Amino acid sequence: MIVDIKKLTKTFSDGSTKLHVLKDINLQIDKGSIITIKGPSGSGKSTLLSIIGTLDNADSGELLINGMSVQENINIDKLRNKSIGFVFQFHNLISELTLEENVSLPKMIAKEQLDKEELIELFEYFDLKDRMNSFPNDLSGGEKQRVAVMRAVVNNPSIIVADEPTGNLDKENALKMMSLFQKLNTEKKLTIIIATHDEDVFNIGHKKYQLVDGSLDLVH
Ligand SMILES: Nc1ncnc2c1ncn2[C@@H]1O[C@H](COP(=O)(O)OP(=O)(O)OP(=O)(O)O)[C@@H](O)[C@H]1O
Ligand SMILES: [Mg+2]
Repeated sequence: MIVDIKKLTKTFSDGSTKLHVLKDINLQIDKGSIITIKGPSGSGKSTLLSIIGTLDNADSGELLINGMSVQENINIDKLRNKSIGFVFQFHNLISELTLEENVSLPKMIAKEQLDKEELIELFEYFDLKDRMNSFPNDLSGGEKQRVAVMRAVVNNPSIIVADEPTGNLDKENALKMMSLFQKLNTEKKLTIIIATHDEDVFNIGHKKYQLVDGSLDLVH
């Protein structure tokens, strides 16, 4: 089990009103699986993904990643940078940097040596080898999102957290993105957690969940 969540709760305060976004969430994610989460807008999908990705804290409950308690982990930044790759709805690439530089950023943050050969291999794997020196604005939406996935995997994480990764793509590019996730899952044994409004993306989950009224339920 790569992610183990027990009785997780999260509340937001909006002035005098309290918003119980996540109520006693339990979730066990097997290593090397794809899990998908759907639910109405505002149901807490992004909140849950942020907590799993250690970008936000829960109010109570337990979160174990690779058997390690996130709450007790003092090297949380390192854990996040090494173990988790993020893909968001908007690619968040830095327009002033080339694709090569964008993809290299997590390596630089981890203060790790950049292996040029490895980087070229990665660009080959993602079918963008000829574009390494291009800038994000010269790419199509689908290509940009592919670069965002490259940046997410450059540190060889064990988990990818993807929040509406196809939310900004047309059908054709959304399909390509799904195939890419499935390829990364089978070939690189990556565990992938996806929140989505798209039923086709939802259906690639080995386990599929629905978040409604603060509860997470398995969808059969
Ligand atoms: N920092 C915050 N402060 C107050 N309320 C917040 C905060 N972040 C999220 N919320 C609220 O928590 C609820 C859940 O938000 P969240 O973004 O997790 O929903 P979501 O399921 O991802 O929605 P969508 O499908 O629109 O992306 C919403 O009602 C939102 O307004
Ligand atoms: Mg969201």
